Order: sequence, then structure tokens, then C-alpha cells
Amino acid sequence: MADVRVQAEVRDLTRIERIGAHSHIRGLGLDDALEARKVSQGMVGQNRARKAAGVILQMIKEGKIAGRAVLLAGQPGTGKTAIAMGMAKALGEETPFAMMASSEIFSLEMSKTEALTQAFRKAIGVRIKEETEIIEGEVVEIEIDRPEAGNVSKTGKLTLKTTEMETIYDLGQKMIESLLKEKVSAGDVITIDKASGRISRLGRSFTRSRDYDAMGPQTRFVQCPEGELQKRKEVVHVVTLHEIDVINSRTQGFLALFSGDTGEIRHEVREQIDLKVAEWREEGKAEIVPGVLFIDEVHMLDIECFSFLNRALENDMAPVLVVATNRGITKIRGTQYKSPHGIPIDLLDRLLIISTEPYSEKEIRLILDIRCEEEDVEMTDDAKELLTKIGFETSLRYAIQLITAASIVCMKRKATEVDIEDIGKVYSMFVDVKRSTQFMMEYQEQYMYNEVPEAVPAAPASDPMES
Ligand SMILES: Nc1ncnc2c1ncn2[C@@H]1O[C@H](COP(=O)(O)OP(=O)(O)OP(=O)(O)O)[C@@H](O)[C@H]1O
Ligand SMILES: [Mg+2]
Repeated sequence: MADVRVQAEVRDLTRIERIGAHSHIRGLGLDDALEARKVSQGMVGQNRARKAAGVILQMIKEGKIAGRAVLLAGQPGTGKTAIAMGMAKALGEETPFAMMASSEIFSLEMSKTEALTQAFRKAIGVRIKEETEIIEGEVVEIEIDRPEAGNVSKTGKLTLKTTEMETIYDLGQKMIESLLKEKVSAGDVITIDKASGRISRLGRSFTRSRDYDAMGPQTRFVQCPEGELQKRKEVVHVVTLHEIDVINSRTQGFLALFSGDTGEIRHEVREQIDLKVAEWREEGKAEIVPGVLFIDEVHMLDIECFSFLNRALENDMAPVLVVATNRGITKIRGTQYKSPHGIPIDLLDRLLIISTEPYSEKEIRLILDIRCEEEDVEMTDDAKELLTKIGFETSLRYAIQLITAASIVCMKRKATEVDIEDIGKVYSMFVDVKRSTQFMMEYQEQYMYNEVPEAVPAAPASDPMES
């Protein structure tokens, strides 16, 4: 590998937005003093945890701390994942946020430590400054010569001007194609990247605004550039270390970034990249942007992974690690020992712990309001009240799931607003965990692999001593 390549284009992927479990979360909903607003950016309640997350975010933005770790701990459905998503949204485009579920490390294709290393490197950005030479000017004239008989490649001339000068450039086949593709015509202000030959149209020159009437409302007018035609321009882009790794690992190439099928990356590749990045940092060409690595359901990691995390956090390029779990005191995977959250004490000691609390009925109502809006479901107040009760008695998740189901039932009866009867219908159609457990307790003998009697010796029906 002669040189470390960085491809900026891979970041321009567009995502298709679907309504997911957390799509209503647009941030943490904090004010400038980091106080949680009651309802903001899709977030409701959980004020202390949100504020704490805001403080962590501030630390991340200042970029000073490396290798800090935060644990979001609390009962199921109390918004731990939601808060992590809020942090991701609040961080903005530039700071990388990588997220993974702990179970992802149990893949057959790569070792656990490789999976974790990749996750860490996805959370570390490199801001790279590059100076490129460009030609920027207003198009005066494009002349494309007719190819002579027997000659396929076209040639031509392009006249560009600034307010001070005018120059004629010779055009080759490739440039002509790009000009045609960009639909460049006289009066456009364009830039040509000298290294790649890429042409971009900035807009139409103000001087042409009068004599051109076939313009749509989208036409953008710009000033004719001043000064010289050739300019140096600084472009800044942020790529993650993982992206650089993948692009430079010869077996995969950057296409692996699209398929996600990166496989293991050789140690030497990473070493070389780290050296190169350190060199760039010294030369002032690059800066490290530590981001956030979020590992959900962290109790699924095992002792090897935890020990990896311990060490990885000590690296000075380490991102901020945010982990979440809903477990209490439980066995650490891969050992016989129990510990709080299933996390070894030495790692636990490095974590700042944010705990989340169960929601009040009022807060559940507000979250359901937001979800109805997100899912475009009209619902009467009575129905919402009932759904809130259901959410409070069973779980917030269950209530959220009923929204879509109820709206389908409502559509079937050709109504536009979900009412109590629809909620009632889906409530009996889909059982929640409590009712399901109840049902299991009653009818367990009729199911296969029924093991409950052993586990719950107190169950009176199956107690042989009583009969
Ligand atoms: N404070 C909140 N404001 C708005 N929506 C919330 C809030 N808390 C939770 N939700 C929503 O409620 C649902 C359940 O929350 P979430 O998935 O974050 O729970 P969790 O704490 O991660 O639970 P688990 O421990 O089971 O993973 C999600 O759809 C989430 O977006
Ligand atoms: Mg979760």
C-alpha cells in the first residue's frame, strides 16, 4: 500500500426513512442550560437521564475526553435506546455515531474482538483537510467541433471568464461529456476540479438574468467570480477510521462498505493507517473526531469482550462508549460469577451510570400522542385514555404496538378515527406479556417442552405432595 486512500463519496448515501420504533426521536429535547424540556424533539419525561445524557454530549462536543463510558440502566421500555438515539441525533452530521447490539459480535465470519474493533473504529472520525486546485468562472462560450470523418473523439473549446480575465481552454472527449451531462451552457458559473476533472454548476450568472426567460423558479443566480480563474480551495470531509480501513484493505475494496460485508481486516492494514493518520495530524492535515459507540443490550457481551472494552477505552483515540442494559444482578456471560447488570466490576467502575425510571401515566399519554402523530393515526381522546391505561398496566411498548393495529381495525370498519371499540378489539386480539403468562400458567400442560413445574415448585396444581 503506497498511500492511504480516502474516498469521500461513500458518505453521500441517502437513506429511506421508515417509521421505526424510535423515528419520532429528533434529539434530547434540552434547552441551552441542558435542562430537559417537558415535551421536545419527540422526547417526554425521563428528565434526569436526558439531562445527564446532555452533559455527556457536551463533553463529547468539546472533544476533550477520550475513553469515557456511560451505562444507561433501567427497566425495559424506559427509553434507554431512545435516549441513545436522541444523543445520536443531537450530535449532528460530523461526529460519528456507531451503534451495535451486543449479539452482533456472535457472528461466524469474524472474531468477537474484530467485530468490536470495527465498531470502535466506526465511532472515530478523521476530519481531513485537502487543498484542491479548481478553475472557477462564468462560461462565455462552448464550442464543440464536428468530428472529422473517421475520427470518433470530439474536441472543442471552452471560454471562461471572471470579472478580471478571460481564457480559452481546449476540451477533450471526457470534458465534453461532463459538460453535456451537467447541461452546462453559456452564462453558467462552473467549477472544474483540476485533479478529477469533475465539473459542478454553481448557478447562472446575474448578468444573464435578463436575457434568459426560459428559466424555472429553481434557477440559482450567482455572481460572476472575481480574480483569477485558477484557485485553491480547501475542502474538509470527515470519514471514519473504519471506512479508511475498508477502502484500503485490498481484498475487499470500498464496495464492501455498501454490502457491509467487510470480513476481517488485517492487523497490518490498520497499523499502517494509524501511522498515516498520525502523520496527517502532525502535518495539520487531519484531526481526530472522537464519536460515540453505542452498544445496546450490553449484558449479552461475554467476559472476553468486557476485557477488550477495558483496554480499548484506554486508547487516546477512543470514542465515548455508551452501553445500555435492562438486567439486574445476573451472571456475567462466560463466567460463573454474578454481578450488577452482568458487567464485571472493574468495567462497571469505569462507567458513569445513568438510570432510567418507569413512566407516569401522564408521560405515557404524551408518548402515545407523539407516536400517533408519527404513525399518522387519528385517535379520539377516549381511545387515547384507554390506551394510556393499557400502557400503564401492561407496558409502554405494548401500547405503542396497538396504535397501528387499532388503526387497521378502524379502517376496516371504514372509520377515520380510532375509537375505544378499536382499542378493545386489538386488546383482545393481541395479548400482552401479563395475560400471556397467565394463560401459560393455566394451560401449560398442553404445550410441548413444558418445564415450568420444575422451575416453579410452588405451583400448587403440580405439587405431588398435595394430591
Ligand atoms: N422519554 C421518551 N420519549 C419518547 N418516546 C420514548 C421515551 N421513552 C421511550 N420511548 C419510546 O418507547 C419505546 C420503548 O423505549 P426504548 O426502546 O427506548 O426502551 P428501552 O429502555 O431501550 O427498553 P429495553 O430495555 O427493553 O431495551 C420506544 O419506541 C421509544 O422510542
Ligand atoms: Mg433498548
